Amino acid sequence: MTRKILVTSALPYANGAIHLGHLVEYIQTDIWVRFQKMSGNACWYVCADDTHGTPVMLRAEKDGLTPEALIARVHGEHARDFSGFYVAFDNFYSTHSSETRECVEEIYARLMAAGAIDKRDVEQYYDPVKRMFLPDRFIKGECPKCGAKDQYGDNCESCGAAYTPNELKNPYSAVSGARPELRTSEHYFFKLGACADFLKAWTSSAPEGAGGRRRLQPEAANKMREWLDSLDDWDISRDAPYFGFEIPGAPGKYFYVWLDAPIGYMGSFKNLCAREGIDFDDYWGRDSDAELYHFIGKDILYFHALFWPAVLERAGFRTPSGVCAHGFLTVDGAKMSKSRGTFITAESYLALGFDPEWLRYYYAAKLNATMGDIDLSLEDFVARVNSDLVGKYVNIASRCAGFIGKKFGGRLARTDAAWLGEFRDAAPRIAAAYEQREFGRAVREIMALADAANVFVNDRKPWELVRQAGREAELHAVCSEAIEAFRLLTLYLKPVLPKLAEAVEGFLCVAPLLWSDAEAPLPEGHAIGAYSHLMKRVESARIDALVEANKESLAPTAAHVQVGEEISIDDFMKVDLRVARIVDAARVEGAEKLLRLVLDVGEAKPRQVFAGIKSAYDPARLVGRMTAMVANLAPRKMKFGLSEGMVLAASSEEGPGIFLLSPDDGALPGMRIK
Ligand code: MSP
Ligand code: ZN
Repeated sequence: MTRKILVTSALPYANGAIHLGHLVEYIQTDIWVRFQKMSGNACWYVCADDTHGTPVMLRAEKDGLTPEALIARVHGEHARDFSGFYVAFDNFYSTHSSETRECVEEIYARLMAAGAIDKRDVEQYYDPVKRMFLPDRFIKGECPKCGAKDQYGDNCESCGAAYTPNELKNPYSAVSGARPELRTSEHYFFKLGACADFLKAWTSSAPEGAGGRRRLQPEAANKMREWLDSLDDWDISRDAPYFGFEIPGAPGKYFYVWLDAPIGYMGSFKNLCAREGIDFDDYWGRDSDAELYHFIGKDILYFHALFWPAVLERAGFRTPSGVCAHGFLTVDGAKMSKSRGTFITAESYLALGFDPEWLRYYYAAKLNATMGDIDLSLEDFVARVNSDLVGKYVNIASRCAGFIGKKFGGRLARTDAAWLGEFRDAAPRIAAAYEQREFGRAVREIMALADAANVFVNDRKPWELVRQAGREAELHAVCSEAIEAFRLLTLYLKPVLPKLAEAVEGFLCVAPLLWSDAEAPLPEGHAIGAYSHLMKRVESARIDALVEANKESLAPTAAHVQVGEEISIDDFMKVDLRVARIVDAARVEGAEKLLRLVLDVGEAKPRQVFAGIKSAYDPARLVGRMTAMVANLAPRKMKFGLSEGMVLAASSEEGPGIFLLSPDDGALPGMRIK
């Protein structure tokens, strides 16, 4: 029986590059889909860029682009990266599409008709300078629990406390720096609270046709039970300015990006249906007998296991057969880090000549059906690829294929030897492991067979047989059987190593391998082609280059630099800049950021200046050094005394600190700077 299956991976945000963390998911899904296709099922794999929301809007603005231009550029980059890793979507589309808009509007209309939408006033922080409501992550301030500065609006990275933005002390807008004010606005809500009973039943049910498999993994179902204890309605609208779809009949109100993002799965599929002549309702209609699986990271389970099935149910569509959540990637045991160079982009990996199938194999070997994190140990990566793929698997062909060509005109002897029985018998076990997303188990089974094949070749020693008279038939049999073993290993690895399998199919002169080809051995007399080397070893030195290439200096990138408004030379000359010698520097009691400096600018009396550089400088080390100051700034009366000017220092929002300017050696106090 062929199954009808629709599979999705989460839609990557259209404001950033694909990295090795993302690839855990896209490679995992791609392997599963390739396995389904090889097994003869009707399986479609769709994805899209997640294009809407405030971060995309602000990022475009920063880069001096329209949102449309930004998402078009990123779409090209994402498509390039995915195909570089052989992630073969049937459609890679965009949520900013007419199909997604149609689906969103239809779902919204159906929810309205079902009475599932509510309107309510919401009090929220508003940036009076930027004139927009601020999402939590764009509000910063001091942690209400521990007082740490510059914390985000939802949780503190210093003490880990969670809170709402309204609890932050001294909040400021991360967009403009302005102090945000609370304002009221009308928002649209999806009545999620009313869906608790449906969601309880849905969570613990096993859909028809999925072999008794539950919709959620056990860990996910546990999380759901926690969430279901306190279900709030879901705010699905945002106020202009917003990059997204405007809500019909509500000018200035937009659908929240997390409402339209999963609907983007439908939009992408709808676009594919038009191209391939597939019936959309066959897959999404309430009575659909197709299977629907969403592969996602554990961080977005809430959206896929709560909101999404509830929205689908209330809108009269089918719900997912399963949500398959995976854990997070760590590199060498730690979170990926830009400063350590372990935030590795897909682009850099490919540009440095790394084989994408090395990573596909490594991830496959580590993946299972749980939500546990997976670690990319760079040392283990090298060892594993070299020993398993090159040392075990490829080695079988490289030691036997040449003799078939040179001695037997490229033709095989019989390949149905008894020892290969266990190779064929393993097919259903390996298939079951793929089906259950236990890829690590599949790889272990396959590598155990590769070991057996190597033992066979080592015992029979074709390189010795070839030098012994009268043993041609044995040599022919040994090499032919080893080639058949290699064919089966290739078939089993094909979901993981599609490109290599293609090369092997060419070399073996066989049609693209299907799962059912495990049953039929290559026939006696089958002619194979010339063997050419199939895979390189990974060199450890290249790993260092990869990490080096991904080390991000903290220098502000071009994209973040925005130069101020133009001024004339006369404007500039109004500022009287002078060389100053720091004759004294001290902490100021009660001032968190300030140092009190005494500056000699060549005048009769030194000046006193308060400078916000305490976090960066030890006052003792400042005494005697030269710097630059604004000498004609109006004096300012401060709590601690009069400040008679300002010293010049460099800094950037991204860090890493404050840097006082100094003139080259030889400059004297009081010299004009211009
Ligand atoms: N745009 C949302 C998804 C919308 S789906 C309707 C999003 N995008 S994302 O770009 O941040 O992440 C895309 C997928 O990659 C998510 O499933 C996420 O969990 C996964 N990963 C992102 N970083 C990851 C790791 N470091 N490790 C493993 N998976 C990770 O979320
Ligand atoms: Zn804190």
